[in-house]
Amino acid sequence: RHGEAVCREAERAALVEALRGERVVIATGGGAPCDDAAWSGDLLGRPGTLTVALDAGPAVLLDRLRAQAGSEGDAAGRPMLAGDDPLARIIALKAARQPWYDRAALTLVVDRVTVDEVAAEVVRIVSGEPWTVKVAAPSGSSEVVIGSGVTTTVGARVRAAFPAAHRSWVITDAGVAPHALAPVEASLAGAGLAVGSRVVAAGEGSKSLAGASDIYDWLLGNRVERSDVVVALGGGVVGDLAGFVAATTLRGLGLVQVPTSLLAMVDSSVGGKTGVNHPAGKNLIGAFNQPGLVVIDPALLATMPPRQRRSGWAEIVKHAVIQPSTPGGERADLARVLTRNLTALATGTEPALGYVIARNVALKAAVVEADEREAGLRAFLNFGHTIGHAIEAAGYTLLHGEAVAVGTRAAARLGHRLGTCDAATVATIDHLLDAFDLPRTAEADLDRVHHLIGSDKKRAAGQQSWVLPLTEGGVVIRRDVPETDVRAVIAEVVTPAG
Ligand SMILES: NC(=O)c1ccc[n+]([C@@H]2O[C@H](COP(=O)([O-])OP(=O)(O)OC[C@H]3O[C@@H](n4cnc5c(N)ncnc54)[C@H](O)[C@@H]3O)[C@@H](O)[C@H]2O)c1
Repeated sequence: RHGEAVCREAERAALVEALRGERVVIATGGGAPCDDAAWSGDLLGRPGTLTVALDAGPAVLLDRLRAQAGSEGDAAGRPMLAGDDPLARIIALKAARQPWYDRAALTLVVDRVTVDEVAAEVVRIVSGEPWTVKVAAPSGSSEVVIGSGVTTTVGARVRAAFPAAHRSWVITDAGVAPHALAPVEASLAGAGLAVGSRVVAAGEGSKSLAGASDIYDWLLGNRVERSDVVVALGGGVVGDLAGFVAATTLRGLGLVQVPTSLLAMVDSSVGGKTGVNHPAGKNLIGAFNQPGLVVIDPALLATMPPRQRRSGWAEIVKHAVIQPSTPGGERADLARVLTRNLTALATGTEPALGYVIARNVALKAAVVEADEREAGLRAFLNFGHTIGHAIEAAGYTLLHGEAVAVGTRAAARLGHRLGTCDAATVATIDHLLDAFDLPRTAEADLDRVHHLIGSDKKRAAGQQSWVLPLTEGGVVIRRDVPETDVRAVIAEVVTPAG
């Protein structure tokens, strides 16, 4: 009745008043955060204030507005619904306001969740309690704990998960040890566990039978006992190597994963795949070994070399693409969670970073629970990896995640050629990978890339499975993929090594 300016002023005054309180939850109207003044240091930008944006797509917003207006019997009182194209108006308004909404510390995507589910997530975030995810697989169960600072609780958690353990054997690498070994040792010792530590060379070269053999000598030479616990402190290399050693020493020691790289946090530390490489290929010798406990502290990522850290986003983008095809994946929100929280994620800011890691762990856990041994569903996790692994092995200059990113682009293009997805799907996947600054092409020995994919196929008894994206979201497995198409997409992303 009094016009928008008056309404906004009253709203601002109410916000100022509400923010005077301690421990309050304030739900603002959609326009309230949409100017600089709202984000000043005494309003939404006030230290100690956590801002969470709830993002819904325009069509969902329209449905909800209509439902609300219907239940209030007051459609005319909703200016958004007036006129003949309310959807267009919502799209335009949302686009104009988006930069303000993106200033929130965290954006949750709420298209397909109930109010109670969203509220539970917000409460968890505000409480500062770590996230926990359980993995119950046929070969064993894991508890995964995710929270900034949980490194200091490793000792107490190991004690609780392995009450019979007297000694802990920490395996780490030379890149991680200077940053993370001392606090982990201190926490273990503080919980009354004897601690021995072994530092291996950083890099894929340590993930070998010779590397495993060195650790067997160390453990057995020091009279390791079956009730002891191996603590894998590092990236995927350390996790795979230490997990394999734990599975095979004395027919199985306790295993705790303390991942320190982004890739290890969202992928390799969860799911129980362990192993070492062989000259015939990567990961060809190994065992399933579910860690009893996984402790994920996103704060450890602060010391990651930027390129290594960037490469970890490739697996997260992979999860976002496959999400709709995974158990619980109906929420189908991960891609938008990444886009909306990009700034916070790229700078490693909480609570966005911990939230995204926890959601990725939950996705991986759900897939592993449904199909630990990769009889079906778990193969979706190989999206981008068939070509990615070949590029990684034939290029030698790319990190695992970088090769996976290029493999993901190739798999998307393959899907387009075979008609599983449209050009817009390819563009969306490219856009996500670009957002995390992941490479578009790779330099590699083309013949070797083809040869490696060919040997993969032979191992699969001529039935190479390709995981390809779908236009409607999610992925599909196809086995009838002509080699000419594979060659064509590889030519698009691989430039011959010169
Ligand atoms: N088991 C699985 O399910 C699974 C899944 C995906 C990948 N993998 C394996 O994981 C490996 C790749 O893992 P990755 O990318 O973590 O590589 P990585 O283990 O080699 O770690 C990358 C580098 O970062 C350093 N680093 C790690 N954390 C650090 C920290 N917090 N601060 C400073 N430096 C740190 C390491 O020293 C290393 O130099 C590959 O061998 C791959 O096959 C396994």
